[in-house]
Amino acid sequence: MNIGILGAGHIGKALAQLFARAGHQVALSNSRGPETLEDTVRALGPNVRAMTSAQAAQFGELLVETIPFGKYASLEGLEVSGKVVIDTANYYPQRDGQIDLGGQSESSFMARHLPGARVVKAFNAIAAADLASQGDPGKPLEERRAIFVASDDPDAKRTVSQLIEAIGFVAVDTGTLEDSRSHQPGTAVYGKPLTGQQARQQLGTSG
Ligand SMILES: NC(=O)c1ccc[n+]([C@@H]2O[C@H](COP(=O)([O-])OP(=O)(O)OC[C@H]3O[C@@H](n4cnc5c(N)ncnc54)[C@H](OP(=O)(O)O)[C@@H]3O)[C@@H](O)[C@H]2O)c1
Repeated sequence: MNIGILGAGHIGKALAQLFARAGHQVALSNSRGPETLEDTVRALGPNVRAMTSAQAAQFGELLVETIPFGKYASLEGLEVSGKVVIDTANYYPQRDGQIDLGGQSESSFMARHLPGARVVKAFNAIAAADLASQGDPGKPLEERRAIFVASDDPDAKRTVSQLIEAIGFVAVDTGTLEDSRSHQPGTAVYGKPLTGQQARQQLGTSG
């Protein structure tokens, strides 16, 4: 699959490497332009290339939005309609400034700025270094680290769950984008290395 990644920081680079290793074609982008990513993509190997964010959005059948939460307005105008978009973002007021979420979950707020996109919250509750090192496709699912997935679109959630399993983690369904409050910053499961069973126990869900 062609995957476009918007954001080439800690999470963007870790996901580019994992998706490339799993055999996907990846376009990585940042805010400063592809020429600033030459060394990065060279290190990530032949399945990863650098593009502008507009080009990466067009290239990807599936997109990942992994920019600082406070920069959400810079996503406007990208061609995301109809595409599955993974939202990894977390809102930290001290980093991102005061933003009125209008009482919504962080990902419901983000989805409003990605018109027509099939938004799936995932990879928000794992540190980038753990994401880069803890996936193991050789392990049985029950021994793998859990990655929480939430979406209002069940098919999109299934697609992202399969991707999560292909890179060596296990997906734990936490419900809708509004339900994804259960793994936002400050929650009991945020940043914790849990198996699927442990995660479901902590959340009190069966997903
Ligand atoms: N770091 C973690 O361990 C971690 C874990 C889970 C979730 N998260 C969340 O994931 C998100 C990304 O975190 P991070 O730590 O990876 O961020 P980061 O290291 O600060 O990198 C952010 C990246 O976003 C790029 N960017 C900004 N605006 C953009 C735009 N309009 N189009 C394309 N790229 C754009 C930046 O490019 P320039 O450098 O060119 O400006 C940079 O490459 C945040 O919401 C964070 O809270 C982080």
